[in-house]
Amino acid sequence: MDVQRLQESFARMAMHGDAVPLFFYSDLFLRHPETRDLFPVSMAAQRDRLVHALGRIVSDVEHADALGGYLQDLGREHRKFGAIAEYYPYVGASLVATVAHFNGPAWTPELAADWKAAYDLIAQVMIGAAAEDAGARPAFWEATVVAHELRRFDLATFRVATTEPLPYLPGQSVSMESSERPRIWRFYSPANVPRDDLTMDFHVRMIDGGTLSMMLTRGLAVGARLRIGSPVGTLTIVTAFAFAMSLGPQIYAHGRLVDDRNVYSLFYQFVPGFDGLRVPARSAMVVMLGLAALAGCGAAAIARGRAGTAVIAVAAAVMVAESWAVPISINVNSTEYKQSGLTPLPDRLPRPSELPAVYRFVEQLPASSALVELPFGEVAFETRYMFYSTFHWRRLVNGYSGGSPDEYGLQAERLKEIVTEPEGAWQAVLGSRATHILVHEDSYADGRGRLISAWALAHGAREVGTFQSDRIFAVPQ
Ligand code: HEM
Repeated sequence: MDVQRLQESFARMAMHGDAVPLFFYSDLFLRHPETRDLFPVSMAAQRDRLVHALGRIVSDVEHADALGGYLQDLGREHRKFGAIAEYYPYVGASLVATVAHFNGPAWTPELAADWKAAYDLIAQVMIGAAAEDAGARPAFWEATVVAHELRRFDLATFRVATTEPLPYLPGQSVSMESSERPRIWRFYSPANVPRDDLTMDFHVRMIDGGTLSMMLTRGLAVGARLRIGSPVGTLTIVTAFAFAMSLGPQIYAHGRLVDDRNVYSLFYQFVPGFDGLRVPARSAMVVMLGLAALAGCGAAAIARGRAGTAVIAVAAAVMVAESWAVPISINVNSTEYKQSGLTPLPDRLPRPSELPAVYRFVEQLPASSALVELPFGEVAFETRYMFYSTFHWRRLVNGYSGGSPDEYGLQAERLKEIVTEPEGAWQAVLGSRATHILVHEDSYADGRGRLISAWALAHGAREVGTFQSDRIFAVPQ
């Protein structure tokens, strides 16, 4: 089989846009009118959904092995469309006729044989999986709407009860069809696993031009019939992938390089954008999502056992207790400061009731105020300033992030040298457009804090508040 020729002929056909599905469906429905009933009444939208996917999958036959799982899922999914084994050769013949038509003189008997062989190979995998599935489960589950509520003009929640139990796992989604809009299947994620009484809830938002979502939000009533397809989901794959990616391009353990060639390094080298991600470890949040779904599976299994609800209640209480760690020690509190002459900070943050009084004053400043806090540029200090800013919500010149702008580094350098280079430091304050300076005098050792306040006053700043050793000055504008 000449795969390159196969793909070239597919590309030649795909160039013809909408004319392709028109030809394909006309050919199929004329030769086999019984297949018309499987497709939506209106074929105007998404007409090429099948044809393009079909052509692409068949011409990608060389990867059929890798696509095995996908093709099996697709075969199983096709049961709900009513695609019986008998129809597969019909679709194959119309596909070959379509590629032949759009390839014109480039079409050859060898190409025709290759397309047929490729289609048969793919179709066999799909038909096989569908036949196996038919012995195990229905093509779809019948469901009845038992409650429906329009929460907003475009958002509805509704509850359905299936006649048979749905083998659903947390994190999966299901396709749905309404008897009011036959043969239009769309995927939705349920809000819960099926309950013991076989009910489950859906939250659906109407999307512009969405035939089914419009029906499910505004056109559904209690008693309406729906069909639900087999649950599908790839959360396991996504979770495993996210875990590999969260290790970053180089894997370290205890500070030692363990491996510098892994999944991430492939993406790092070959996929644009991956070399720009600042903290790959954050894809661990996707892993947490996967683990949460896994915990959901575990909880569902436990809930089915004896005293299951009580076990889950105790487990939930233990988890809440475990997270009850107030006050918590700060992880970024290195006292190895870059600047000399600073006093070490305690390793705890105060409780909300013990918030330094100066920040209540800052909270009262006009919303347009911008604060610069001194000492400036030390991670341990900056994280605290950031933390307090979530109390007063005034703009802050300080603020540490793993990737700080050059300007910030420059300001840090200048504000380190207030005593030795007072003019440069003052220019840094003016350049930052801060309206207020907050001097934490106690944070400077050997009484140097007073010198800092004196420097602000000497440059025309006006003291507007004093809270023990915290002094706040308005910058002349
Ligand atoms: C190798 C064979 C086939 C392949 C690779 C294939 C592939 C596909 C794909 C990728 C979709 C889109 C699925 C989705 O969006 O959810 C689809 C939809 C569909 N297929 Fe197939 N298919 C094949 C054979 C058939 C056959 C034999 C029939 C029966 C006549 C059929 C009937 C349908 C229908 C009714 C839809 C839904 C179309 C719509 O909602 O607009 N397919 N197919």
